[in-house]
Amino acid sequence: MEMKNSEDIRNLPVGVFDSGVGGLTVAREIFRNLPNEKIIYFGDTARVPYGNKTKETIIRYSKQIANFLLSQGVKAIVVACNTASALALNELKDSIDVPVIGVVEPGARAAAAATKNGRIGVIGTEGTISSGLYSEFIRKIRPDCQIFGQPCPLFVSLVEEGMIDDEVTITMIHRYLDHMIENDDIDTLILGCTHYPLLRTVIAREIGDAVTLVNPAYETANALKALLEHKDLSNDTSFDLSDHSFFVSDGALKFQQFASSVLELDIQNTKLKILE
Ligand code: DGL
Repeated sequence: MEMKNSEDIRNLPVGVFDSGVGGLTVAREIFRNLPNEKIIYFGDTARVPYGNKTKETIIRYSKQIANFLLSQGVKAIVVACNTASALALNELKDSIDVPVIGVVEPGARAAAAATKNGRIGVIGTEGTISSGLYSEFIRKIRPDCQIFGQPCPLFVSLVEEGMIDDEVTITMIHRYLDHMIENDDIDTLILGCTHYPLLRTVIAREIGDAVTLVNPAYETANALKALLEHKDLSNDTSFDLSDHSFFVSDGALKFQQFASSVLELDIQNTKLKILE
């Protein structure tokens, strides 16, 4: 294969993947913070959710998607899915030769920096919480911290149903989170699932402003920026929306509707890609 010079490599897109639509919260932060980067997004909508699947399955799916993104010529890969970041990131890093980052470490770093009383809550899928990876990264930086994990599986469906400021969602926020506020005395809460940043305003209103909310999607866009700069991979030409590509493994039209609301942009040309 013909070698690309470093300028060509800088012009290549960044691959971003998730189990489905949720990773668009990460794409949104990349668009805001790295306007010169073109992305190729893959949402595994045929196989979502990842949150209740085994590590072996998540590793297999993640490797398939990473290989597809590599076949599209990406210069780096962002694992936007918290569950895949928690269960498959090390295996991906070992098996592919472009830089790969996940959302867990940037989120953990921000929480360790934000907490004053050292008591941090983490919410996410079953897979993310039982992996213990957020705790592991936080304790590497702040061994004094206590971390309290809570799976909140229903939040994913509520967000996908558009039930953001809805009485059912508000009931679930209190059911999942009140004990962290009242008994565990957390002062920082990591929104450790792709969908949860879309509930940020409602969660903040319901649990009060004594708790700092950490958005790993935002932190990951910053980490990507630092990584690309460090590796001399940053692009310096700007892009239009039509330069970005979106692929899903099922239901392109439904994806486009959700994407258009999350990104506040009209995504027209999502392509179907079935992975085997
Ligand atoms: N994208 C997943 C995550 O961030 C949430 C949805 C799912 O369970 O696949 O963990």
